[in-house]
Amino acid sequence: MTAPETAVELSGVDKIFNQGRAGEVTALTGVDLSIARGEFVALIGPSGCGKSTLLRLVADLIEPSSGTVTVAGKPARRARLDQEYGIAFQQAGLFEWRTVLRNVELPLELRGHGRKERRARAGEMLELVGLADFARHYPAQLSGGMQQRVAIARALAVHPPLLLMDEPFGALDEMTRERLQDELLRVCAATRTSTIFVTHSIPEAVYLADRVVVMSPRPGRITGVIPIELGERTESTRQSPGFFTGITKVRAALRGTRVPEETVGAER
Ligand SMILES: Nc1ncnc2c1ncn2[C@@H]1O[C@H](COP(=O)(O)OP(=O)(O)OP(=O)(O)O)[C@@H](O)[C@H]1O
Ligand SMILES: [Mg+2]
Repeated sequence: MTAPETAVELSGVDKIFNQGRAGEVTALTGVDLSIARGEFVALIGPSGCGKSTLLRLVADLIEPSSGTVTVAGKPARRARLDQEYGIAFQQAGLFEWRTVLRNVELPLELRGHGRKERRARAGEMLELVGLADFARHYPAQLSGGMQQRVAIARALAVHPPLLLMDEPFGALDEMTRERLQDELLRVCAATRTSTIFVTHSIPEAVYLADRVVVMSPRPGRITGVIPIELGERTESTRQSPGFFTGITKVRAALRGTRVPEETVGAER
């Protein structure tokens, strides 16, 4: 069977926590979003606007109050059971009693890969995030940023068709962050992985994404979708006029203003 061309579809999604009870919070309202197979979407918006909530809905960790969530052409529940995605969340969420290597091996174990293959793949992923020397360490022996890199290695280990990443690079130093951004793009492009990537960094969103989805303060709504047309990312992308144009557009959307097209055109 060929994979469906739409990786994720949210249609008319509302999420109300504690509905009808004390502490009722409308986290998301009227969210429609369709993500194509192989597409990289960055999600940006102020703290508390529902970005993590949106990811958790796609991952079927919570259910929508109304509307539907479809992943790989199936209901989110089915997609979770079929392990259609890998996740790296805001907190690394590692298992303290497992070594770094065995943390990365876990999703491969769950999928029934043999020991030898697990070792090899996990080793490769740790190499990718620059932690090969720490394979035998335990999470508590690593810094926060290193733990986060383990979580990223774990999410990538199964080469999932869909990656859900919630501020995965937030705790990293700038150079490591840029290197991992490039690695992530390389891996995603090579495997045609679809990605939803939450970030608070406008330049990071623009550098990574095919489209940047901008959300409003609570109750979270999608207020702008900005296509980024930078082509293949290279050494010079971060200095290119198109990159700065993208940043300007995203910033304007976050502020709720629009950049006049002529101004944008003039910058190119
Ligand atoms: N389990 C929950 N129960 C009740 N309210 C919740 C729950 N999870 C999230 N919320 C509320 O939903 C809103 C959106 O939260 P969410 O974590 O999605 O925001 P966010 O955009 O990811 O913020 P940040 O950028 O700070 O991570 C917040 O007002 C939050 O208090
Ligand atoms: Mg969040």
